[in-house]
Amino acid sequence: MKAASNIILLAVAFATIVTAASMVKFVNNCPYNTWFWTVGPAGSNIFGNDHERIMVPGSGGSVIHSMINTEALSGGLVLKIRDLPRYQVGQVGILQVEYHLEPSTKSFWYDFSTIDCLPGAGPENPRHCPVIEGGIKMHVPGQAIENACPPAWCANGTCHNTYQKHGSWLGEPTLRCSMNYDLVIEMCTENPGHQTHDDAAPKPKPVLVASPNGSCGTGTGYTCMGSRFGESCSKYGYCGNGEPYRGMGCQPEFATCAKSMFGSCCSQHNYCGDTDEFCGQGCQSAFGNCGLGNSNLRSTSR
Ligand SMILES: *[C@@H]1O[C@H](CO)[C@@H](O)[C@H](O)[C@H]1NC(C)=O
Ligand SMILES: *[C@@H]1O[C@H](CO)[C@@H](O)[C@H](O)[C@H]1NC(C)=O
Repeated sequence: MKAASNIILLAVAFATIVTAASMVKFVNNCPYNTWFWTVGPAGSNIFGNDHERIMVPGSGGSVIHSMINTEALSGGLVLKIRDLPRYQVGQVGILQVEYHLEPSTKSFWYDFSTIDCLPGAGPENPRHCPVIEGGIKMHVPGQAIENACPPAWCANGTCHNTYQKHGSWLGEPTLRCSMNYDLVIEMCTENPGHQTHDDAAPKPKPVLVASPNGSCGTGTGYTCMGSRFGESCSKYGYCGNGEPYRGMGCQPEFATCAKSMFGSCCSQHNYCGDTDEFCGQGCQSAFGNCGLGNSNLRSTSR
């Protein structure tokens, strides 16, 4: 009899769990991985920093997010979806699912936005969203429920029931469903789409021009090398020769820093020196020598 009562208790506990939470289930049918981030309303401390990503593995992988009580946070939660593992890199193609779980009305609101996707943009454009073409569907599974809990989807280049512009208007596609149902977001429902090219590839270094007017350094695009104002770029951004220009703060990227006086290694903080601090970790080999061997040459030269 003891065993039987345990089973009943378990069943009750299980029922409580099931009825307490609605879930958002991601299913990724694309041949590449996708990622999502949770971003909460102001004051919620849910920031969705780039490194807080959650991966949904490609080729049929799935991940479940249990809806949180956003009524307690006074604002909905946004799930930002992308096909690259970062989104805070400027204007990029992000799909956004938003939900607002309202236990007081035993329901949740949800919507789907493609505002950040550039229609017709190819995979070389960071604002490309592969699943607009490949298909994405946000729905509450079960045919019978679909009338009450409408789906939103994109397929073959066209989206339905989704936000494609900012603002709010009559008949805007904010959808509602009773609590305890789950939201499923399926990606690449039609075809594989084309994954966005990696927009974090290192960009070519800007070409520096010999300073025509004595200014140099970050933001100007001017280097002192080859300029008639002197070979060193001071921390204040002026070319010159001599101590104030060659000393601490000299910008090695834009000038010949005082190698003989200050050392032959350029540290990660853009200072010249000869100790491990300058020649070791973070040393910029483009602007001088690197390697701990160099630190044996001299002690700090100042
Ligand atoms: C997309 O296009 C394909 C091929 O023409 C078609 O089979 C499919 O039904 C379309 N999907 C939707 C949701 O319209
Ligand atoms: C030199 O030219 C740049 C770019 O036009 C300007 O920002 C800077 O203020 C000028 N510097 C001087 C010393 O005139």
